[in-house]
Amino acid sequence: MRIDVFTLFPEAFEWFAGQRHVTNALAAGHALACVNYRETTPLSGGQVDDMPFGGGAGMVLRVDVVEAALRARYEADPVELRTRRRVIALTPSGRLLDDALVDELAAEPALTLLCGRYEGFDERIVEHFATEAVSIGRYVLAGGELAAMVLADAVLRKLPGALGHEESALEESYSAALEGAPEYPHYTRPAQWRGWSVPEVLLSGHHARVHEWRREQSRLRAQAQQRGHDHPV
Ligand code: 6GU
Repeated sequence: MRIDVFTLFPEAFEWFAGQRHVTNALAAGHALACVNYRETTPLSGGQVDDMPFGGGAGMVLRVDVVEAALRARYEADPVELRTRRRVIALTPSGRLLDDALVDELAAEPALTLLCGRYEGFDERIVEHFATEAVSIGRYVLAGGELAAMVLADAVLRKLPGALGHEESALEESYSAALEGAPEYPHYTRPAQWRGWSVPEVLLSGHHARVHEWRREQSRLRAQAQQRGHDHPV
């Protein structure tokens, strides 16, 4: 997997790039690179955005600036690029990111992530250069950088070798193994703390019963989540 992130704030990804599952993925031959739109802008003074036609607050990332950045990186017309590579514009109006989409993206050989800024993208970027628009939730962030990190984090941790334990990503929240439900609760030592005990079944050593209990907890959490609660109680 090779992930290229186009951004005005490459330094925002430094902490992310140092995370264990990311360094593991990089050591396994995967790649994460940041490309700064400003370095290839055809405009003077490092300009990359402009006022929206029709008026309104905020600035919009320019289509010519994104085209120049994509051309410089891939030596191709971005309109042709998107026929052979997934190019994802991070925007709150995009398709909601979920485990199924993460699995789909993790199966790709390469991803290009486009971060917008302020009021976002000139729509022609999304329409003509991107293969899709993706959102990480129904709220608005000041920029696409955090969303790109969320997406890259979710994708990279799915790759073989990214997590210490190969099983860690199998029976986890929203996975097929849990029928798309959130994960069951976990407990560790001490078994007693301030009178708060651990469910007896987990201490029983009875694997089949533990498995059954976990599936049931997972189902209860799925129901609670649908009702809009954090927990079944
Ligand atoms: Cl992808 N971008 C921004 N700016 N805000 C968001 C988002 C993306 N997803 C949810 N909110």
